Amino acid sequence: MRHLVSTRELTRDEAIGILDVAEDMAGVAHREMKKLPTLRGKTVVNLFFEDSTRTRMSFEAAAKRLSADVINFSAKGSSVSKGESLKDTAQTLAAMGADGVVIRHSASGAPQTLARSGWIDAGVVSAGDGTHEHPTQALLDAFTMRRRVHGAAARGKGLDGLTVTIVGDILHSRVARSNLWLLTTLGASVRFVAPASLVPIGVESWPVEIGYDLDAAIEDGPDVVMMLRVQAERMHAAFFPNAREYAREWGLDDERAARLPAGTIVMHPGPMNRGLEISAAAADSPRSTVLEQVTNGVAVRMAVLYLVLSGEREVRS
Ligand code: CP
Repeated sequence: MRHLVSTRELTRDEAIGILDVAEDMAGVAHREMKKLPTLRGKTVVNLFFEDSTRTRMSFEAAAKRLSADVINFSAKGSSVSKGESLKDTAQTLAAMGADGVVIRHSASGAPQTLARSGWIDAGVVSAGDGTHEHPTQALLDAFTMRRRVHGAAARGKGLDGLTVTIVGDILHSRVARSNLWLLTTLGASVRFVAPASLVPIGVESWPVEIGYDLDAAIEDGPDVVMMLRVQAERMHAAFFPNAREYAREWGLDDERAARLPAGTIVMHPGPMNRGLEISAAAADSPRSTVLEQVTNGVAVRMAVLYLVLSGEREVRS
């Protein structure tokens, strides 16, 4: 049984392989070509224990563009409210027929547990777990960067020499973690910039430079600035600089955005807190790739579903 629950264990060749398949899927994902019959007869279950707009919808779109059937499960309104466990919930849905399960859960490690437990006989794809990982978000971010750097000649290439500054609530960000592992595997250099209270313990042992001053980081002219959502729902009050202080010190406001070099792109995984970590003008500017990331997410998730469900390629056991 094969799964994708982390970017940390992907080799460079595996990561480039996924991005290349996503390039092959892009025409269908972007609706320039008709949907493919590749996963006809397969069923994908979207098992979401946490809210989502982009990830759940794009996995659904990706599965349908590969002709798979889709069953959507949301914990809200389900028997989870009666205390049903992850194991029983997953086995109940698998009993209806599931070749692949896409899972988002607030507990870090839930996708790994599902993948390794043997509870279900289906490929497991993480759609984000707690503060741990969000592998398909990192893959779509890398896909977006690679296209910006290499254009139509992106196939087979990594992100060697690219400088990426990831800013904000690193402590709670599964996006930051998955991006760090994937981007460094692909040859990029990553810097985290954050308030000291939002830097995870143990980060010193990770392959990342840490900074606390966004203005100094902008002076260095990174190729990519990735702003993170302030995750107020996971925030202990003591950790959070007040909103005005946060926006002043760590927000990408209009003035900071204007100081970025012409070629620097601004990324955000969404959903955005406009006026807090990013100004409306920066989010909507020509250098912003926010909607391009969403569009690319369908191609990347088509690639992941294809690789996990078709058995054509070993992604991660
Ligand atoms: N980026 C992301 O995971 O967005 P959603 O929470 O809307 O899926």
